[in-house]
Amino acid sequence: MGIYKKIREALVLVLVLSVYATVNGGNAQESSTTLVPAVISFGDSGVDVGNNNYLPTPFKANFLPYGKDFINHQPTGRFSNGKLAVDFTAEILGFKAYAPAYLSPQASGKNLLIGANFASAGSGFDENAVVSNHAIPLSQQLKYFKKYKTKLAKIAGTKKAASIVNDSLYILSAGTADFIQSYYFNASLRKAYTPQQYSNYLVGVFSSFVKELYGLGGRRIGVTSLPPLGCLPAAKTLFGFHEKGCYSRFNNDAQVFNEKLNSSAVNLKKQLPGLKIVVFDIFNPIYDAVKSPSKYGFVEARRGCCTSKKSIEKTSVLCNPKLGGTCSNSSQYVFWDSVHPSEAANQVVSEAMLLQGIALI
Ligand SMILES: *[C@@H]1O[C@H](CO)[C@@H](O)[C@H](O)[C@H]1NC(C)=O
Ligand SMILES: *[C@@H]1O[C@H](CO)[C@@H](O)[C@H](O)[C@H]1NC(C)=O
Ligand SMILES: *[C@@H]1O[C@H](CO)[C@@H](O)[C@H](O)[C@H]1NC(C)=O
Ligand SMILES: *[C@@H]1O[C@H](CO)[C@@H](O)[C@H](O)[C@H]1NC(C)=O
Repeated sequence: MGIYKKIREALVLVLVLSVYATVNGGNAQESSTTLVPAVISFGDSGVDVGNNNYLPTPFKANFLPYGKDFINHQPTGRFSNGKLAVDFTAEILGFKAYAPAYLSPQASGKNLLIGANFASAGSGFDENAVVSNHAIPLSQQLKYFKKYKTKLAKIAGTKKAASIVNDSLYILSAGTADFIQSYYFNASLRKAYTPQQYSNYLVGVFSSFVKELYGLGGRRIGVTSLPPLGCLPAAKTLFGFHEKGCYSRFNNDAQVFNEKLNSSAVNLKKQLPGLKIVVFDIFNPIYDAVKSPSKYGFVEARRGCCTSKKSIEKTSVLCNPKLGGTCSNSSQYVFWDSVHPSEAANQVVSEAMLLQGIALI
């Protein structure tokens, strides 16, 4: 894609101008120059690269057809047919390998020099909901991050580890499961909170998370907004709405949340000296792809490529080839399963993220 190349060129220019030549301490896999020393991810299935494979949770993507278009056509735990948006981001930043899932055996030794991934599908800001999903709560993800820092200091030395922690790109993806797997299903939660109030609560947790991460040394933080929840195939198939197009009430909820997230990020920037923080707007790129699919080469924007006829609440199955079936060409689909974008859509999202995220690097 042309724009993709242009972004890469722009970033390389930034790199050259700033003479930011971080070479990752002789790590054989990563001897080339990268725009940040490491990428560290927290949150949900938007960025989970396999932590849930090691957990007793129903939210797993370690079976085909997940990963069918990934390296070696292997499922990894990523909730996509191929790469996630963060995988594309890492590539553009110059990485030749992806930061390992923290719970995986690969998360050791020099592999940790390029970062680590703490994310867990089904996780989110509302810790009660996360616990009932048997996913890793954000508070626990931060505890793992502390352990990671200790390991990093042993591998890289104290001084180098401190500069890696200081200069790394931190990515947080959360909020979708809070709404799609919890709020909309949970009558007592809906009774206790309006969507606005629930958003206030979630964004409060977000703010505490960022403060804690800042306290642990994080300085360049990118957080993804909510996607257009009402356009996810799940909104239609699982909640039984018969509206044509996207379900506007869910989209409104997402936008209310996103506005609150934006103002919270602005406040955090004022409060925390040296913090660079960006909200990646993934709502609009996905919404645009759903509304104008042909612009991006998509043919199907409503159904996921891989579907399941069962409710995500009862079975947690978002894609089950035996129950639903898999489309023949996932590049023509905006959505891979009933919640997650296809690799092709993730590439569109990552381009938008990079344009918005230049301030972080
Ligand atoms: C951390 O990074 C900032 C720039 O983002 C720099 O000004 C500061 O000196 C760095 N601190 C350490 C300890 O590396
Ligand atoms: C619904 O939400 C309430 C209030 O947060 C919580 O106590 C309860 O466990 C939730 N129910 C389910 C099934 O997750
Ligand atoms: C949040 O801010 C970004 C950039 O600053 C903007 O593109 C986006 O539209 C904003 N979102 C909302 C919901 O205000
Ligand atoms: C899949 O669809 C994409 C986008 O429409 C197209 O470029 C590609 O050639 C298709 N691949 C196959 C094998 O048909």
